[in-house]
Amino acid sequence: MSRILVAICLVLGVSCSLADPLYRNDEVQVPKLDGRIVGGKDTTILQYPYQISMRLRGNHRCGGSVVATNIIVSAAHCVNTLTTVANLTIVAGSTQIWAVEPKQQELAVREFIIHPNYRTLNNDYDAAILVLDGDFEFNDSIQPIKFATERPEHDTEVVVTGWGTTTEGGSISNILQEVFVNVVENDECKKAYSIMLTSRMLCAAVTGGGKDACQGDSGGPLVLNNELLGIVSWGTGCARDGKPGVYCSVPNVRDWLEQKIEELSVVGQIDFL
Ligand code: ARG
Repeated sequence: MSRILVAICLVLGVSCSLADPLYRNDEVQVPKLDGRIVGGKDTTILQYPYQISMRLRGNHRCGGSVVATNIIVSAAHCVNTLTTVANLTIVAGSTQIWAVEPKQQELAVREFIIHPNYRTLNNDYDAAILVLDGDFEFNDSIQPIKFATERPEHDTEVVVTGWGTTTEGGSISNILQEVFVNVVENDECKKAYSIMLTSRMLCAAVTGGGKDACQGDSGGPLVLNNELLGIVSWGTGCARDGKPGVYCSVPNVRDWLEQKIEELSVVGQIDFL
């Protein structure tokens, strides 16, 4: 199975999550503090209070979004290699990765639920729900985000945020970065990714490249009008011309997300264990 995957990745020139250094050893690179996300700029958690940092043994692993006091939405590929939630925590309310800020809150994860149709081969249905061990207390730095219901039209401007690497193969950013990109319709995006791209995916990029999410941004939010439109998923390299960033399309997995979250709350949600 993994040999087939590697072959497909090689043929299509796709950097698959298996080959992703962040997942190989669960450690992030030593910070170089060279500042910029791929083409983005510094922002603060006050602008994006739904953004969280998922940490494994204290190391930033992925992004994610707050959707309720004890529920986070992230990417399936961020958690599918984990055998346990031990050592996994969610940090909300902080602009910086390597500083404990006054409004920061950190909670352990009680369980994660991966989309039943998630496929490691091409990261189809790359969505996961994380149930927290406790509740975030909302404040101006920690707020939930709603799910978008519709896929926007080609070229719509959207924003993606995260602490991911600021260059392909580079270091993660200490300060939360924001970058504005435009939706690339799937017919167009297929030119870059062919059969790897499915209707559950959504692409975004800027003409000529230079702006994109990158390693460590995975699971994080792609947002339109304060609604969660996408989950950072994959791409060939980062910010390359003609190789858009690919996101799990929230409108396409929303029914599952809402149904699962509803189920969790019926069972007394989180206190059913
Ligand atoms: N898989 C990466 C991660 O785990 C995200 C890659 C996004 N790549 C891109 N070019 N937008 O962090």
